[in-house]
Amino acid sequence: MEKVRIGIIGVGGITQYAHIPCFQKLENVEIMAISDPNEDKLKKVAEKFNIPQKFSDYQELLAVKEIDAVVICTPNVFHKEQSVAALQSGKHVLCEKPVALNSKETGEILKTAKERGKKFMVAFCHRFDNTTQILKKYIEQGEFGEIYYAKATYLRRRGIPGLGGWFTIKKLSGGGPLIDCGVHMLDTAIWLMGSPKPVEVVGSSYNKFKKEATDGGWPPVESRTGDKYSGTFDVEDLATSFIKFANGATLFLEASWAGNSETGLFLSLFGTKAGAKVGQSEEEGKMGGRGLKIFTEKQGGLVDILPVLPEVNPYQKEAEHFVECIRENKEPITKPEEILNVVKIIEAIYLSAEKGEEVKL
Ligand SMILES: NC(=O)c1ccc[n+]([C@@H]2O[C@H](COP(=O)([O-])OP(=O)(O)OC[C@H]3O[C@@H](n4cnc5c(N)ncnc54)[C@H](O)[C@@H]3O)[C@@H](O)[C@H]2O)c1
Repeated sequence: MEKVRIGIIGVGGITQYAHIPCFQKLENVEIMAISDPNEDKLKKVAEKFNIPQKFSDYQELLAVKEIDAVVICTPNVFHKEQSVAALQSGKHVLCEKPVALNSKETGEILKTAKERGKKFMVAFCHRFDNTTQILKKYIEQGEFGEIYYAKATYLRRRGIPGLGGWFTIKKLSGGGPLIDCGVHMLDTAIWLMGSPKPVEVVGSSYNKFKKEATDGGWPPVESRTGDKYSGTFDVEDLATSFIKFANGATLFLEASWAGNSETGLFLSLFGTKAGAKVGQSEEEGKMGGRGLKIFTEKQGGLVDILPVLPEVNPYQKEAEHFVECIRENKEPITKPEEILNVVKIIEAIYLSAEKGEEVKL
């Protein structure tokens, strides 16, 4: 295949910030068409990025025969319908996280991808962080031993996204910070732990900031000034959970859009030969830098390793990987059972929070 031709459905924040610039940087890749029901935005984005075809109805984009692959960047509620339709029209699919609202929808997508023999990948960009990539190498070479415990945290002090928009409406988003941000940390942690099978989940969710929230979005604000919330807000602003796996390993996961806490992304791994902590709080001045420290033993003494890592744009690496999978007929980094397990865990956390008891998977 000479050129890989891409169509993008949904031209909001993540499309303009990450997907268009990253795919346009790749050689022999063309973004041929975009689609969005917001015609004004569609026109502006097509002009700004010089994209030849634009459609307000995504089905018309799928009907363009020359398009090999589709990137789905719409509100979560549309992911299942659009992924299935794209796969059925013979396109490979890169779908933004969360893959769908629940495991039933996810199963349908994965089944369609298998039946049609098309690549299906979830845009878990954190797998492509320089820290995640180097940790995966250490772990695969056995340098961590058995990873038996992990902690994954995604906290925002004041960072409720798209206030008044779809993010805070459960039927459109599937939930709050857990399904929006926690999903990244959950996927990264489980992937680094070797994708063990989840067996039991306990979760709680809270909604303490809905009345006084300001729209923090990304990056989150560190003040309470700004537009006050108006619109539906029927999701959590903090979720906490504890997950047990069949191999005996456990994972603590927390995710918030607002709370009286620091803002930051953190991941801790506890292995029998080494452990690691990724991430520093914004206060420490490294938000986004994802500082990595490895804790181990050498020559009978305790040693900390601070890897010096090259700067990478994870979205760029994600786009490169997706195109490589298409060109070289490789299996995408996000395997079907991994995609499904992440959704099952999120579903179980919400169910556990609702029922007030643990949920067996
Ligand atoms: N991986 C990441 O780092 C990351 C970051 C942000 C968002 N996301 C995910 O990307 C997706 C989009 O988020 P966003 O922040 O860009 O949202 P957004 O609200 O900025 O953009 C969504 C776009 O989809 C369009 N749209 C709505 N219904 C549509 C339909 N039926 N068909 C086609 N287009 C439709 C909207 O008009 C809008 O332009 C979400 O699933 C979100 O979770 C991922």
